[in-house]
Amino acid sequence: MPTGSTYLVTGGAGFIGSHVVDQLVADGHRVRVLDSLDPGAHAQRPDYLNPAADYLWASVTDPQAVRRAVRGVDGVTHQAAKVGLGLHLGDMVDYVAANDTGTAVLLRALAERSFRGRLVLASSMVVYGEGSYRCEAHGGVRPGPRARAELAAGRFEPSCPACGRDLEPVAVTEDVAPDPRNTYAATKLHQEHLCAVYGRQTGAEVTSLRYHNVYGPRMPRDTPYAGVASIFRSACAAGQAPRVFEDGGQLRDFVHVTDVARANVLALTRSAPAPGAFNIASGAPRTIGDLARALVAATGRPGVAPRVTGEFRLGDVRHVYASPQRAATELGFRAQVSFAGGVRAFAHAPLRDAVTTR
Ligand code: UD1
Repeated sequence: MPTGSTYLVTGGAGFIGSHVVDQLVADGHRVRVLDSLDPGAHAQRPDYLNPAADYLWASVTDPQAVRRAVRGVDGVTHQAAKVGLGLHLGDMVDYVAANDTGTAVLLRALAERSFRGRLVLASSMVVYGEGSYRCEAHGGVRPGPRARAELAAGRFEPSCPACGRDLEPVAVTEDVAPDPRNTYAATKLHQEHLCAVYGRQTGAEVTSLRYHNVYGPRMPRDTPYAGVASIFRSACAAGQAPRVFEDGGQLRDFVHVTDVARANVLALTRSAPAPGAFNIASGAPRTIGDLARALVAATGRPGVAPRVTGEFRLGDVRHVYASPQRAATELGFRAQVSFAGGVRAFAHAPLRDAVTTR
């Protein structure tokens, strides 16, 4: 899209959405934000909101507000969602309302305007469930959930579902079968499917960005809904030792929020569309223990060493990290922020104010 296009960023006041807004504005585009400022995510109106964007303070589930929001837009990036672990069944209706119904309301409003532009969806690596593994006897395998008894006995590595052998983790590619393991993950996959339906029926260009573990400035502080980077960062700031679960050997791909925002801008604005699903990752996996040590070192508080507790959360996956290949070749996306540099800056970056938990 040429400079001067109009883009809608749903969830544009949030952690990732606000960085997308900043980059689109910096590139000379007009930006409209639809955001509910959900009290579950915001204690107050954030002070980082880009003044060059237009803000519509309403929920993506509000049909009239969404109709106003989509008027005259050239492209949409849909970041508004209820995020988190998605493990409490009591939250199921809220997840479905915010994520599934919210997406449906948005797509209906776009259909009413015969929107055929670019539609970018914030998806997640949680759609994969457990990552990919290789068994020396059975090749590529996808193990099921780990049993409580195994975890309690300190056996954290999944084993081959066919023969019980030890497995080697490998990078997950976009073509593996999804295996969403909690409500949040199920809604992210459903959002992908709903958007794909819209694309098929209208010819709109739909890109789903499967974010890996995003971190960086404006990340919400330590809450039950925060990812591990925020929890460790908050612990360091309070002079406490990060509590590293299992044995700390869990592999993840930590990708900086400015890189994630750039992936969105690329998907919206590059000359050729990039349809389909893409891992958005740094391509340089690290363990949870690595993250804890790097944050502690960057915080520079003597005496605060990470504590490997052996605790576990049933439902956590052991290793999930990405092949960044498809995003590089088809979307032209390569992460630019290194783990060392990103974590060093994150150790001192402002986090978003504490939120009310629900
Ligand atoms: C996280 C997000 C998920 C998001 C995905 C991709 C959360 C809660 N999870 O999934 O929504 O879609 O990244 O961006 O936001 N751990 C500790 N100590 C702690 C907390 C966690 O060691 O205090 C460990 C966990 O056991 C796990 C790892 O850190 O092994 C990652 O945890 P977390 O960030 O919560 O979840 P992900 O599964 O990576």
